[in-house]
Amino acid sequence: MSEVADATEEALEIPQLYKYHVFACFTQRPPQHPRGSCGANGAQPLWERLAKKIEASGQRDICMTSSGCLSFCQAGPIMVVYPQGVWYVPRTPEDIDEIVESHLLNDKLVERLIVVPRI
Ligand code: FES
Repeated sequence: MSEVADATEEALEIPQLYKYHVFACFTQRPPQHPRGSCGANGAQPLWERLAKKIEASGQRDICMTSSGCLSFCQAGPIMVVYPQGVWYVPRTPEDIDEIVESHLLNDKLVERLIVVPRI
């Protein structure tokens, strides 16, 4: 077995600090920028709501991190939940509430809001 494979297997046995770690894209580009941006697509109030909901849950094993561009700008606002690597595109405050209540607090994916980015 290669050193990389050995290292990967060892890494999988490292205890995880968080049950869920959410990365939400805060990148803001000008409205006419050709790449678009999550910020230009209305991310800020959604992420503020997400942060408040997570904090209000009292679950210290759920972490949210403000990220830079996640490279799928036109699809934004976009967020990803690890360790599963589930990508969501919430559009409304109610979408945020559903992701928190269903996925983060009750371990049930919100399938209607999932996207599978292509690289
Ligand atoms: S600006 Fe959010 S993914 Fe690029």
